[in-house]
Amino acid sequence: MERLQKVIANSGYCSRRKAEELISDGKVRVNGQVISELGFKVDGNDEIMIGNKVISREEKEYILLNKPRGVVTTTSDEKNRKTVIDLIDTDKRLYPVGRLDYDTTGALLLTNDGELTNLLIHPRNKVDKVYIAKVKGFFDKESALTMSRGVVIDGVKTAKSFVKLRKYDKKSDSSIVEVIIHEGKNHQVKKMFEAVGFDVLKLKREMFAFLNVNGLKSGEYRYLSVKEVKQLYSLVK
Ligand code: URA
Repeated sequence: MERLQKVIANSGYCSRRKAEELISDGKVRVNGQVISELGFKVDGNDEIMIGNKVISREEKEYILLNKPRGVVTTTSDEKNRKTVIDLIDTDKRLYPVGRLDYDTTGALLLTNDGELTNLLIHPRNKVDKVYIAKVKGFFDKESALTMSRGVVIDGVKTAKSFVKLRKYDKKSDSSIVEVIIHEGKNHQVKKMFEAVGFDVLKLKREMFAFLNVNGLKSGEYRYLSVKEVKQLYSLVK
């Protein structure tokens, strides 16, 4: 038996707090009956409905994908482009945890565990993401410092971050830069570089939390171990 709000949040329908609100507001029915009591417990046979939507309680699946370029991070694309979901052979309804741009590659988590997703993307939990960017020109110390202290993008200052030049290639006049952020604003890394006058040529997410894509070719994926899932939960709870 589990608490109703936990089951709703786990299904990915909404956060636990929102689920509590829905219950208190009398929007949730269990086996046809409105339940507005927060302590209410349900088991696997109970049918939970919010409005006319049945809350699904399928088994949880956790996948780490090495996202290739040219794939959108959505479950369906109105322009009919290939999505990250198309790369995964599953009968579960998975969705991505956060977003990587069409041309960004690297570590992307996919799951049907809504509770973990909500926790991982909540700014309060400050989950680190490590990016490796190839930028045009020599990336100087001054720009690295400015970027790491926070720059204004879309009218809001970014949080402090870690920014370090890894390598400069004279021949192609380009730099490889490591950036570690815990926020997830739209196109954040590209816009941070733009704010200090650099163009991103390539972007890869090397790590999401402690997960990296070592051993996975572009487009390949693997299931997380039980230990890794527990580790993710302990990171954000
Ligand atoms: N920042 C970006 O600019 N793009 C991504 O895909 C991820 C982070």
